[in-house]
Amino acid sequence: MSDWLNVALPKGRLGEKVYEMFKKAGFPCPAIEEATRKLVFENPEASVRYFWVKPSDVAIYVERGAADVGVVGKDILLEYEPAVYELLDLKTGTCRVAVAGPEGYRDDGRKTLRVATKFSNIARNYYDSIGREVELIHLNGSIELAPILGLSDVIVDIVETGTTLRENHLAVLEEIVPVSARLIANESSYRFKRESIDGLKNELKKLVAD
Ligand code: PRP
Repeated sequence: MSDWLNVALPKGRLGEKVYEMFKKAGFPCPAIEEATRKLVFENPEASVRYFWVKPSDVAIYVERGAADVGVVGKDILLEYEPAVYELLDLKTGTCRVAVAGPEGYRDDGRKTLRVATKFSNIARNYYDSIGREVELIHLNGSIELAPILGLSDVIVDIVETGTTLRENHLAVLEEIVPVSARLIANESSYRFKRESIDGLKNELKKLVAD
C-alpha cells in the first residue's frame, strides 16, 4: 500500500479533465476510463490508485491521509483551511467567488446585510475585511434562490459562466476571489513519498497552460 500513490479526484467534469492530465503525467489507469459506478480504481503497473470523491470532500481525504494527493478548488481551501500542502495551480476549473444580488441592487449600508452562502468562512472574512456587518445564512445549494425569495439580500457564491445568475435576474456585485483547481498533498505523504509526488507535480506543471 505505502508504495502506491493514492489520488483523490473530484467526481464530475473537472475530475475527468484532471484525470487526463494525470494520465499524460505518467499515471494512467485504464480501469477508470470504463463507465462504471465504482469509486476506486487501480493500476498496479503505475502504482497508482484513484478515488472518485465528492469535490468538497477531497481536502478531508487528503488532510487525514486517506489519499496522498488530490485535486480541489481554491474555494474549498479558503473555506475549510485544511492542513495540507498546496503544490500546484492546475489553472483549470476556473471560476470566482463573488457577491451577487438582484440586478441593480445597492447596499445602502444602513441595515445588517443578510448574506446567503455555502462559503460562510470566505464570506465572513470578506465582510470583516471591509467592515460590513452581516448576518450569514448558511445554505447547501441553489443559493440563488435566497434573494429571489427574500431569504437574503445578497449571496456569496461561485460564478463560472454567469448563466445561473442571468437566468435568475441576478448579477455580480463584487468579486471576492478567483478560483482554480489545485494539486494538494497530505503533509506526511509528502515527506515519505516525496519523489513520486514531486515527479507528478513536475510532469503536471509541464501540462499547465501558461
Ligand atoms: C454552482 C454555483 C452556481 C453555479 C454557477 O452550483 O453554486 O449556482 O454553479 O455556475 P454558472 O455561473 O456557470 O451558472 P452547483 O452546480 O455546484 O450547484 P449548487 O446549486 O448545489 O451549488
